[in-house]
Amino acid sequence: MKHRPLIALNWKANPDSLKAAQKLFAATKTLAKKYKAFDFVACAPSVFLGGLKPTSTVALGAQDFFWEPSGAFTGEVGFEALVDTKIRYAIIGHSERRAMGETDEMVGKKLLAALGNKVIAILCVGETSRDEKLAYLETIKTQLVSALQKVPKQFVKNIVVAYEPVWAIGKSATREATPEEVKEVAIFVKRVIGDLYRTKSVPPIKILYGGSVSHKNARMMLERAGVDGLLVGRASLDPKELGFMLQNLSMPTRS
Ligand code: PGA
Repeated sequence: MKHRPLIALNWKANPDSLKAAQKLFAATKTLAKKYKAFDFVACAPSVFLGGLKPTSTVALGAQDFFWEPSGAFTGEVGFEALVDTKIRYAIIGHSERRAMGETDEMVGKKLLAALGNKVIAILCVGETSRDEKLAYLETIKTQLVSALQKVPKQFVKNIVVAYEPVWAIGKSATREATPEEVKEVAIFVKRVIGDLYRTKSVPPIKILYGGSVSHKNARMMLERAGVDGLLVGRASLDPKELGFMLQNLSMPTRS
């Protein structure tokens, strides 16, 4: 693996208080100190970001934001205020936001806002279901092409693409993705981005896998799916489970 694996933690709308968020962040930092081979980012609800102190081992990330810096946009979190909280990453286009009406066009605007403000964008792509006709690859291509339409080539290195098949996410997941399925998409994503920017060499982007990642499948994904890291939902809320996962990822390979 070329990169240090990135473990991106997506807390979603959890936990239920700033105090609990600080406790979870502290537990995450303790784990990051122990497992130094990984980069970590905790993506917390916006309301908690100002109350969490990022370190060199655990960066802070947003889960969403508005593409305008500030202004008359009731209920939105303007980009300037978010950057002021010291975020280094922002998740963009998560399937749960797309399901609430976020369009490819909105995703594209958010992507430009993040990159223009030196924030690393975790761009989520993924199909809602699979069929034999490979239509899911078309879905992923459309999501990528429309998001990247206006992104200049020099910004591409600040994009992390998270492949999250919707059918494998959360409690309602129908089944787990296999490393082979994820690998196919990881290669496809790099090819689409390479074609878009007309470069023959593999674009320098990280690809993450997300969808029911746990201590049971994390290592298999990192070793066999050709991804550079993981986007972890439920397991990120449970330091014990996260600890098991990191322990498994760190075990020496049996020869
Ligand atoms: P999950 O969520 O790990 O709970 O499936 C992943 C995500 O939605 O980012």
